[in-house]
This record gives sequence, structure tokens and C-alpha cells, in this order.
Amino acid sequence: MDRTLTLLGIESSCDDTAAAVVRAGGGAKILSSVVLGQTALHADFGGVVPEIAARAHAERLDGVVEEALAQAGLGLAEVDGIAVTAGPGLIGGVLSGVMLARGLAAATGKPLVAVNHLAGHALTPRLTDGIAFPYLMLLVSGGHCQFLAVEGVDRFRRLGGTIDDAPGEAFDKTAKLLALPQPGGPAVEAEAALGDAKRFAFPRPLLDREGCDMSFSGLKTALLRARDALVAEKGGITVQDRRDLCAGFQAAVADVLAIKTARALELCGMRPTALCVAGGVAANQMIRARLVAVAERAGVPFLAPPLRLCTDNAAMIAWAGIERLRAGLETPPDFAARPRWPLDDRAPALLGSGKKGAKA
Ligand code: KG4
Ligand code: ZN
Repeated sequence: MDRTLTLLGIESSCDDTAAAVVRAGGGAKILSSVVLGQTALHADFGGVVPEIAARAHAERLDGVVEEALAQAGLGLAEVDGIAVTAGPGLIGGVLSGVMLARGLAAATGKPLVAVNHLAGHALTPRLTDGIAFPYLMLLVSGGHCQFLAVEGVDRFRRLGGTIDDAPGEAFDKTAKLLALPQPGGPAVEAEAALGDAKRFAFPRPLLDREGCDMSFSGLKTALLRARDALVAEKGGITVQDRRDLCAGFQAAVADVLAIKTARALELCGMRPTALCVAGGVAANQMIRARLVAVAERAGVPFLAPPLRLCTDNAAMIAWAGIERLRAGLETPPDFAARPRWPLDDRAPALLGSGKKGAKA
């Protein structure tokens, strides 16, 4: 059996300052997971401001790490190592985390593990459900949208992804266009529940293109045109117009994700142990139901980790660190923080960056 390992994880690649302690022996146990969000700090700017994010991480990381250790009931001397997100993400924030982790590792003599943020998301189903490789992961959030064949701790094959906006970003922009609150996903979903998805014929981009790449920015433009046409016609939009616009938009996103997921299952060239989904958009009931149906049709179990572990957190980083240590994957002492860091070097670069800055 694998030896028991307890790791401190640190995450600061976007707009969540997070630290967690995870212990893995027979199974895995999250001893603590602290996430301090920055939504309020960026609210006036319509997106994450990298400089503000970096400063907030630098100011808050110490306290968040202390809190995570306190909640776990452990001192720094009692952990077996420190895992830190070394990219991809907003470089100022990533550097804040890496510098702190380096300092803690140097002071304690504990091993330091550099973790790819996307690997943290991709390996989460093993933390929560202990599933075996290989599996198919759909990462779908405000900053990411990609299909990954997860074949090993350090073996990821990217099957496709968005070539422009991430779906969460499209939900957020839609909410903005319709004067709904941020984050847009839950607000648009609530409106859509009361709307007629058939009233507006929004496009389903790239369905005619082979493979699993997706595009969501045209959808947002179509919604803008539909809104402006209503305004030109009637001088404004009614409550029901807004609900119908949201319903039409959500149905289009759900269709694209469902059809491309079915295609990814066909094209992945393996028998996956599960179809897994992570990221904030996985909270959407309609999208989730469509993905469950796709998995059922393919005869593959569906797995979505609890939402607090689907969205950005440090438990996934600690866990990925444990997996890497167990697999004997070493972090070179001079590793660099990387704003871009694709999980699959062989896959062609994606053009999209996502609202929260450049992501691989
Ligand atoms: O994974 P996450 O918390 O953060 C990152 O983007 O890294 O995802 C947040 C995104 C936001 O864009 C938000 O609008 C979207 O997930 N989201 C949703 C829903 N809840 C959150 N999108 C659609 N439907 C939802 N219910
Ligand atoms: Zn993330």
C-alpha cells in the first residue's frame, strides 16, 4: 500500500487565494480547504484585474495558509511536503504562491512540488472517488473549456477545446448584456428556467467541423443582435424577452457541449472508466442533465465532484502533489512559474484565453 502522505497545497493562479491540507493513506482525506475569493475586489471592472489579483494574493496568502494548517490541526513541521500551482494563470498571482511555497520549503526542508493548475482539476475525480485511469474529463468553467483524456498522473491528451471564449465566460457576458448580476451563470440559468428556448434560433458553432473543438463567442454576438433587434423594434426588452433570450442561449451552449462530449467519447480511443466534469459551469442543471444522458448512452459512468472541488481550490493542488510524489515525478529546484502551461504539449495551441487571463 502507498505510504501515508500529508501535503499542504497552495493555489493563487486566478482570483481565489486558497490553501488546503490533504492526507492520503488508504483513501484520501481533505483535512482542510480554505478558499478566499476576490469577486468583490474585481466587481467594478467587469473582469479580473491581474494587478489587483496579484496584490490580494500577496497580502492574503500567509493568513490563508495559517488558517488551513490550523483547521487541519497541524503545524508546518507535520506535513510531508508543499504543493503549489506553478501555472497556467495570471503570472503575478502564480508568483505570489510560488514564492511563498519556496520560502516554506526552504525553511522546513520539505519537498516542494510544482503543480499544473489544470492537472489539479483533471485529477480531482481520483481525490473524491478514487477512480482509475483512463477517464475522460470535460473542464468547463469561466477560464477553461477542454476535453482531456486522463491516462496517468502526468499523461494527458487534449482532444479539443474552445477556440475562443470559455462557456462560463459566455454566460457572464450574456448576463452583462441583459443587465443580470455576476457571476452570470446562475443568474442566466434562473431566467432560462422561465423562458422559451425555441423562440430565438441561436447558432451551434463548429458542429459541422470534425473533432471536439468548440466556439462560444459567436453565440454571445448572436444574443447581442437579438437583444438589439428587440430594442429597435419596441424600445426595450420585456421580462419575458429576457427569459427567452437566456433560455435560447443556454440551450445552445448545452447542445454544443453535449454533442461535442459525445464526439469526444467516440474519438478518445480508449474505454474510459468515467466521463468526469469539473468547473463552475458543471453546476448548471440543464447542462449537467445533458452530459449525464450522453454518458448513459455511451454506457460510461458519469462523475462530477462536489462543486467546491470542481471550482478553484487548493485541495486539488495538494492532491496532485501527492500523486506526483507517489509517482516519483520530481520537481526541478529551478522550476519556473509559467503563465501558459498546456497539459498536452503535442496538442496544437488553443487560441482562446478565457476571461480570467491566458490559460492553456
Ligand atoms: O470554475 P469556476 O468557479 O472558476 C473559474 O472560471 O476558474 O467557474 C466560474 C464560472 C463563471 O463563469 C460562472 O458564471 C459559471 O462558472 N457558472 C455557471 C453556473 N454557475 C457558475 N455557468 C452556468 N450555469 C451555472 N449554474
Ligand atoms: Zn481552475
